[in-house]
Amino acid sequence: MAKISEQKINEILSKTDIVDLIGEKVTLQKKGKGYFGLCPFHNEKTPSFSVEPERKIYNCFSCGEKGNAITFLQKTSNLSFVEAIEDLADRANVEIDLSNMKKVNPLSRLYNINEEALNFYKLYLSNTKPGTVAKKYLEDRGISNEIIQSFEFGLAPAEFELLTKTLTSHGILVSDLYDLGLSKQSKKETFYDLFRERIIIPIKDEKGNTVAFSGRTYLDKDKDSPKYINSPQTKVFTKSNILYNLHNALNAIRMNNRVVLFEGYMDVIAAHRAGIKESVASMGTSLTKEQVKLMKKYTNNVVICYDGDKPGIEATERAITLFANENMQVLIVNLEDGLDPDDYITKYGVEKLANFINDKSIDIVKFKYNMQLKSTDLKQMLDIERLKKNVFDLIKNTSHTNVDIYLQLLAQDAHLSDVSVRQDYEQYTRRSQNQTGRKRIYQPMNRLHITDKFINAERCILNYFMEGYRYVEDFNANFDVLFFISEEVRDIKIAVEDLYIYDEEKESKVITLEELQSVLSDDEYRYYLNEVKYTKNIDLRDDEYMDFKEVLHYYFDNEIQIRQIEKEIALASSSDVKIALAIKRDSVLRPQKGGKHNG
Ligand code: CTP
Ligand code: MN
Repeated sequence: MAKISEQKINEILSKTDIVDLIGEKVTLQKKGKGYFGLCPFHNEKTPSFSVEPERKIYNCFSCGEKGNAITFLQKTSNLSFVEAIEDLADRANVEIDLSNMKKVNPLSRLYNINEEALNFYKLYLSNTKPGTVAKKYLEDRGISNEIIQSFEFGLAPAEFELLTKTLTSHGILVSDLYDLGLSKQSKKETFYDLFRERIIIPIKDEKGNTVAFSGRTYLDKDKDSPKYINSPQTKVFTKSNILYNLHNALNAIRMNNRVVLFEGYMDVIAAHRAGIKESVASMGTSLTKEQVKLMKKYTNNVVICYDGDKPGIEATERAITLFANENMQVLIVNLEDGLDPDDYITKYGVEKLANFINDKSIDIVKFKYNMQLKSTDLKQMLDIERLKKNVFDLIKNTSHTNVDIYLQLLAQDAHLSDVSVRQDYEQYTRRSQNQTGRKRIYQPMNRLHITDKFINAERCILNYFMEGYRYVEDFNANFDVLFFISEEVRDIKIAVEDLYIYDEEKESKVITLEELQSVLSDDEYRYYLNEVKYTKNIDLRDDEYMDFKEVLHYYFDNEIQIRQIEKEIALASSSDVKIALAIKRDSVLRPQKGGKHNG
């Protein structure tokens, strides 16, 4: 892959007005030679973000983000390096040919067709009689024109085949419309539109490509039809990999370092109206691991705000487990009376919703405690015993303060005396200690959390290995060939290496999924698909590869020390000593400066 010359990059940067560029997203005020504004990378009330037009850089004195026009665009618009260069070259009128640099996305043709369909639907909403009726419906639901614009709502006409006819008359192949799920085929072999007489909500991927649509009924006569119909699974749309509104929410997610997760489209829009813009939705179906990973790319903090009814609560429980598996920090918002955010706004107004989400969220322990309490019949002795046992289970590994708080709460809620609850708890902990013998309090929980980013780094690097033999060579020159944190990664790497070694043209070879599958066991291949491959839809960039390498260097440099401490832990006489050693061990990996891969 050819490189963009440094000269070209300098030319583009020198012709870029960084104040103008950043000014599109941040209100800047001149002060001396520079400009100041509120930092777009974190949430602040007084400006500590400066832009220096002479040196063409920006810098936040508060959060430490700094860089130039390229990094600014990359971060705030979620672009790859090459895409950012292209955008800047375009603005500065600099000729540059990037055609051989950008992996031509074979799907872009399909994205464009979806985009054309979206334009058709948008025009139909804004310019027709049925559009006026649909807008009235939206208006009655509190959805302003501004929201219609920014969420790009459209309208599908009542006619059977208006979209299909219009787009094919523009030269679009009906087979493409069929593949995208926009057109269906009747028995008579003619094609007709999937969405008819419905308000259209476009669904985009994290890069902003329109990948699918949802259509909502809006006429009284359609009360008995399904409320929403959605695009089917297509080449560009796998429901389990997409979060509604993620692309729009990215900047707010970064700013507030959290994402708020809802069930549906209308919930996201309600939250948006309440000023909570870091909102996404899992679109009704239960949350998937892929969606969790998608969020984790941008923040480690999530607020779950599912509907307050029974299915909503069950979905929350499932989601909590998924987030916990990824070591994410979870808060839960339980709207009262089974309301959903949209109903809540209708009943109490936008401000109350914002307050509720921001101030009334609870942590997992409190959520589970509430659930236990709710399912207990306080008139039944056996029920109360079960409640106590479950609550004790819940709090036994938390801090003393926390234990105190919950024991008091439990006494109050179950109408028991403080003293008896405390005595029962003490008896419970003594018993469970005897049962498990020496308790493994030094279980490497922290360690797991810390090594997360190292494991992530080595998994990411596997993807580079698939892209070219030079990465394998470079890696082998830097690291002990077999030194991997997880065995699975090590074994896959060996298999990949073999694929190259026996190939005459290994220098130009790229390993395909089929090839990989042919040399892996089923378990290994499943591991690859579930744990490794998801990073593949990200642009593989050399500078990121270097970052990952640095993370691994850090790990390996310290691993020897860690193993030594591990041995000492195994030999230690008391659990106090073990705990102290475990803390020491974990601190070995901790001091690394927070880089990009801290999540
Ligand atoms: N959903 C769907 N098909 C349906 C019903 C629901 O795909 N027939 C998905 C949609 O993504 C929807 C989400 O499940 O947004 C949550 O459903 P619900 O709460 O019923 O819809 P709302 O988004 O609240 O929409 P509205 O307020 O218009 O009823
Ligand atoms: Mn709803």
